[in-house]
Amino acid sequence: MESNVTRPEWSSRIGFILAAVGSAVGLGNIWRFPYIMGKYGGSAFLLVYLLIILFVCSLPLICELAFGKRTKKESIGAYGSVNKKLKIFGWSNVITATIIASFYFVIGGWLLNYIYINIANTIITDYGSYFENFVSSPVLPCILTTLFLFMVMFFIFRGVNKGIEFINKVMMPLFLLIIIILCIFSMSLPNASSGLKFMFMPDFSKINGEMLLAALGQSLFTLSIGMGILLVYGSYMTKKENAARSAFMIIFSDTMFALLAAIMIFPAAFSFGLDVNSGAGLAFITLPNIFAQIPYGNIFAVLFFVLLFFAAFTSSISIVEVPTAALIENFHLSRNKAAAIVSVIVFALAVPVTLSMGIFGGFKLFGLNLFDFFDYITSNILLPLNTIILCIIIGWFVKLRNIRAFRNKTIYAIFNFLLRFVTPVALTLLILFGTILKK
Ligand code: PHE
Repeated sequence: MESNVTRPEWSSRIGFILAAVGSAVGLGNIWRFPYIMGKYGGSAFLLVYLLIILFVCSLPLICELAFGKRTKKESIGAYGSVNKKLKIFGWSNVITATIIASFYFVIGGWLLNYIYINIANTIITDYGSYFENFVSSPVLPCILTTLFLFMVMFFIFRGVNKGIEFINKVMMPLFLLIIIILCIFSMSLPNASSGLKFMFMPDFSKINGEMLLAALGQSLFTLSIGMGILLVYGSYMTKKENAARSAFMIIFSDTMFALLAAIMIFPAAFSFGLDVNSGAGLAFITLPNIFAQIPYGNIFAVLFFVLLFFAAFTSSISIVEVPTAALIENFHLSRNKAAAIVSVIVFALAVPVTLSMGIFGGFKLFGLNLFDFFDYITSNILLPLNTIILCIIIGWFVKLRNIRAFRNKTIYAIFNFLLRFVTPVALTLLILFGTILKK
């Protein structure tokens, strides 16, 4: 089925870069990167992480962008243009994106609550039990997730330029401003320098297989690879744009924001003698405990949750554009109809996900509640799998030269080798050992 719809295009290079960086910079940068960096040897980890991004993950990143740009199609159409039978791999991207949306939006709802309680200056004595009670309650998280969904879908309804590009142009500069304010604040706390020292002190003894897998998994997730996002964002690129150059700008900005997040978190945690943990526990329990102990803490808490909200919002927009564009282009629907259908599907998935933290908690898949199960299969299986398939199809069938990502012959030869051999092997190891190690 060929689509004849006139396709949107980014109105400026900066609009595109901000949207792609907005997608890449998400909760992964703020609540996962600092923890992993601390756990696996500080700047020794950083070095390994950068090498992995450069030699393994930059390839699928460039390929996704260039594949979208070349075919001018979203993931199902792009794979279908190689061979109709390959459309199934495009579907796999669309399904992965929809599943990720269903639990990411739940966190978006939590963030709305935490912005509210800090603006209202609600007194909470024990953040641990407050968080437990809040997420397991049946009504409020559902309502807030739905609100978050409406807010995101509003910009999807408005389209690529007036919606996606516009909101990223507003939120990303503010995001930079807030994170800098919070970094300065964190570094001004007593004993902050020992946090920085710990964070950057290289510990090469921590380099091992498990650390390599952690770095690999983190770089895939943080760069939004294997979800069809870069394919669809790439398909809105103008001819003038260069996929490889854009990819490196995305990598640079994403890494810079991850480091800023670490600079924001480590000194504060050290100053209060708390361990840096990761995920919801860090954002919703550890850090609020710190904010509660300092003068004007609730102002910093509001800034922090707004920061997380922006991170989640711009990533969420990119993830729902994947199924929306797929419906528009493969079923010839208007953007409004497509966005309405996506809203209903994400809502239908997000509600059981929220409830799986409480009343549906007894329902387990492979020993995990629905929230953790969706998180697990996407990060550990679907993302690496989609990425391996992309590398194999571009590296061995479409051929890297045909998506015109590189002009320089030597660079092309190096990257072609990496794409055909190194990336697929590294990612296969990630799936095999990542799954076994976690057990
Ligand atoms: N790069 C995002 C992050 O670090 C991953 C993501 C993108 C998640 C889009 C959801 C939606 O959080």
